[in-house]
Amino acid sequence: MALVTTKEMFEKAYDGGYAIGAFNVNNMEIVQGITEAAGELKSPVILQVSKGARAYANHKYLVKMVEAAVEENPEIPIALHLDHGDSFELCKSCIDGGFTSVMIDASSKSFEDNIALTKQVVEYAHAHGVVVEAELGTLAGVEDEVCVESGNESYTRPEEVEEFVSRTGCDSLAIAIGTSHGAYKFTAAQCTRNEQGILVPPPLRFDVLHGVIERLPGFPIVLHGSSSVPQEFVAMVNQYGGNMPDAIGIPEDQLREAAKLAVCKINIDSDIRLAMTGNIRKYFAEHPDHFDPRQYLKPARQAVKDMVAHKIVNVLGSDGKAL
Ligand code: G3H
Ligand code: 13P
Ligand code: ZN
Repeated sequence: MALVTTKEMFEKAYDGGYAIGAFNVNNMEIVQGITEAAGELKSPVILQVSKGARAYANHKYLVKMVEAAVEENPEIPIALHLDHGDSFELCKSCIDGGFTSVMIDASSKSFEDNIALTKQVVEYAHAHGVVVEAELGTLAGVEDEVCVESGNESYTRPEEVEEFVSRTGCDSLAIAIGTSHGAYKFTAAQCTRNEQGILVPPPLRFDVLHGVIERLPGFPIVLHGSSSVPQEFVAMVNQYGGNMPDAIGIPEDQLREAAKLAVCKINIDSDIRLAMTGNIRKYFAEHPDHFDPRQYLKPARQAVKDMVAHKIVNVLGSDGKAL
């Protein structure tokens, strides 16, 4: 199967009550770990590339690695997506350079400016057979060069979504319902503590999600900032010389609930970074004399694969859906 757009994936996910995982790729080990897991579990998958990933690894290397993964996994649909495109030029470059989907993230602009830029990207993308994700509302956290302080995020306003989608023609919409980028999604002040003294984040705003669904029935919704920051990997990082106090993410059961509704794409990057970093730190601590990158990147790649398999089965519900 060649690279596909997300159109059919999202139609089936919407009707089937599951979501497609969108995982950020920056190097070969990440591409292999994600696609091996998706291939073995017969799950559709989205590989996404940020502006920062392109700057790090080079557009051509990333596309060629993804093409190799497509050849190695002919039974599953794979989409190649630009994550957080911030300009028409960047989106155009990815559309011209083999991507099947792009995100134009003009969510920090005014409503009218967001519409104007999104519409411009949609016109070019659709003329080239590429689909477009747009965003309304802002998440807290860091994405490429944009940093939104926790507390300065703004939830999507359901009353705006119909007009936005009809005027832009976008194919999917990322909304803000309380998820956040990075490994530090909430401050301690935003959380409560359970009986064991563990921080519990504020629940996702399902009321906002339902408000959006009411106004856009059948339309695919996207959640960014959806890593769960598993505490076992935070502990692993900290045990082997790292320092990540109070790293906290989105509870997986809430994401599973969202996936059963209109949420068709769930973005996960930080959990992959955490799993790789924890395992590399552990490897170095246990093998201080080793210096061959293949030795420490092998468990890191396996950790990516295990993490993605866990998400596919326990969060997304997309296993077996490529059949
Ligand atoms: O939301 C952003 C993604 O996690 C990508 O992060 O800009 O560091 O590549 P990045
Ligand atoms: P996380 O930082 O929660 O993994 O979010 C990733 C993301 O939204 C990429 O666009
Ligand atoms: Zn994001």
